[in-house]
Amino acid sequence: MSEAPIVSIKNLSKYFGRFAALENVSLDIQAGEIFALLGPSGCGKSTLLRIISGFETPSEGELLLDGEDLIPLKPNKRPINMVFQSYAVFPHMSVEDNVAYGLKMEAVASKDIKQRVAESLAQVHLTDFSHRKPHQLSGGQRQRVALARVLVKKPRLLLLDEPLSALDAKLRDAMRLELVKLQEAVGITFVIVTHDQSEAMAMADRIAVLSEGKLRQVATPAELYQRPVDAFVADFVGTIHAFDVVSVSISESDINKPLTITTNELGELVCPPSIAADSIFIDQGVSQLAGQSVLAVRPEHIELHLEAPHNNAAINQSSHGRAQLMGRLGDIAFQGQHSIVEVMLDGRDSLTAIVSNTVAQTLHQSGHGSPIWASWSTANMLLLPNHALPA
Ligand SMILES: Nc1ncnc2c1ncn2[C@@H]1O[C@H](COP(=O)(O)OP(=O)(O)OP(=O)(O)O)[C@@H](O)[C@H]1O
Ligand SMILES: [Mg+2]
Repeated sequence: MSEAPIVSIKNLSKYFGRFAALENVSLDIQAGEIFALLGPSGCGKSTLLRIISGFETPSEGELLLDGEDLIPLKPNKRPINMVFQSYAVFPHMSVEDNVAYGLKMEAVASKDIKQRVAESLAQVHLTDFSHRKPHQLSGGQRQRVALARVLVKKPRLLLLDEPLSALDAKLRDAMRLELVKLQEAVGITFVIVTHDQSEAMAMADRIAVLSEGKLRQVATPAELYQRPVDAFVADFVGTIHAFDVVSVSISESDINKPLTITTNELGELVCPPSIAADSIFIDQGVSQLAGQSVLAVRPEHIELHLEAPHNNAAINQSSHGRAQLMGRLGDIAFQGQHSIVEVMLDGRDSLTAIVSNTVAQTLHQSGHGSPIWASWSTANMLLLPNHALPA
């Protein structure tokens, strides 16, 4: 992505009194992408969207659209439209009139209005519903009317704040796909706000993860999952089981050599250096790693055994070893394609492992509470700064 970005945000902050809703946020949005703002409630997602739309002014920083300063422009002068969470449609107007409304306000010639409305309704598959009133539509159809109302204005940028949150789960899944298809068809850049990681992962080309007003990471969904910058991001975009790091030994002369990492629960493990987040080598001295980083594993990488897996010395000598823990079999939840199995541990929270239904069946026969061993390759672990773990 080397072209000039459509939106460029530089060192942007927003204070409400002394409270920083956004702190020194810098990011670029590329033309034609679906860009998601993801983070827990109160992290500043809507505030950032409102600043882009012009309903809020930043306290500090720059906001450029196609290289031009947007901040002095009033909301209605920006080539930007917003779809709100409670998608507002006029109840007394037909679908067609709802979509035409914005163009009439702009005094567009009526034959152009007719054509553009027809085009927008076709884009959202509502051509046959043009004469209905909103109360004669389903929730998903009303949401599509709201989309047509903004698409008809052909914005450069479409901002969507939790656009699917008013829909039930099944419809939400269907609308995710529809929104992605629609975006591909119209080619307008979408910035979508969500606190639902699966929604962001399913829809976005790139995701910005925010927490407490700070930008944590901007990356593709796969990068976020596989190369999270810290424990907060890793935990927010999926599940991790984290173990506090007691010590790490890194070969100072060759950082490509395996790391020896010690945690209280797992003992000493040999790990490939590729499991370390970039910042571990850049701004964290080895001496600072202890107490400030975690060694983490995701549930899909954990294997379960009814007998102790033998400690293969040859494996432990190689660039990576296996971690191993003994516990007791907890609950088993059938999930359709796989099962989630709980491993109860002494003195710490349970682990969960995602295993095949066949494995789950075998475990089930041995009975709740029976001894069970969890093991995984250290090559599948993540060494992450933990300074940002949520409370
Ligand atoms: N006008 C305001 N005055 C004071 N504080 C505000 C104002 N608007 C937002 N905030 C605060 O700024 C923080 C960020 O709010 P924002 O609405 O951006 O969160 P969000 O990430 O969209 O959360 P949610 O997922 O709950 O919608 C919150 O702590 C909120 O209370
Ligand atoms: Mg919000």
